[in-house]
Amino acid sequence: AERTYIMVKPDGVERGLVGEIIKRFENKGFQLVALQLLSPKQETLEQHYADLSSKPFFGGLMKYMTSGPVVAMVWSGKGVVKSGRVLLGETNPLASLPGTIRGDFCIDVGRNLCHGSDSVENAEKEIALWFPGGVVSHTRVMEKLIYE
Ligand code: GTP
Ligand code: MG
Repeated sequence: AERTYIMVKPDGVERGLVGEIIKRFENKGFQLVALQLLSPKQETLEQHYADLSSKPFFGGLMKYMTSGPVVAMVWSGKGVVKSGRVLLGETNPLASLPGTIRGDFCIDVGRNLCHGSDSVENAEKEIALWFPGGVVSHTRVMEKLIYE
């Protein structure tokens, strides 16, 4: 099944929004297949955000992302990469609609609570980076209630 890497950033953990963010993915019907609370290494973040290394905000982004623990997760399901980004909202929270995580809970692009992979290919790279030991393999009992 398709998988995506979702991360609650340090502001989301600090503000006690981990449960809220997980709840939205659970409610939708996606399956949680990996979860870890961790203090990310600078090196891991540099790989994760390698495409942004030349941006003027990169230093601030590193400082933000190392300011506290994050919750790293892998979610599985049909269309989960794209749908996960819909649940998160736009990169800029002020452009995010109410009903999305960023639309409901934050204001600044540099404090936007959560990360979601932007393609299936990048999702697999990010999953390998954050969960080198792999993820759980489990078939839910309720699968027939979610998928036709
Ligand atoms: P992620 O899901 O976190 O990857 O966000 P995204 O895919 O919507 O955006 P992108 O990958 O382009 O940027 C990654 C992160 O860098 C964003 O979520 C922001 O936290 C931060 N970021 C992006 N653009 C800006 C910016 O213009 N200013 C600041 N301060 N931060 C930015
Ligand atoms: Mg991104």
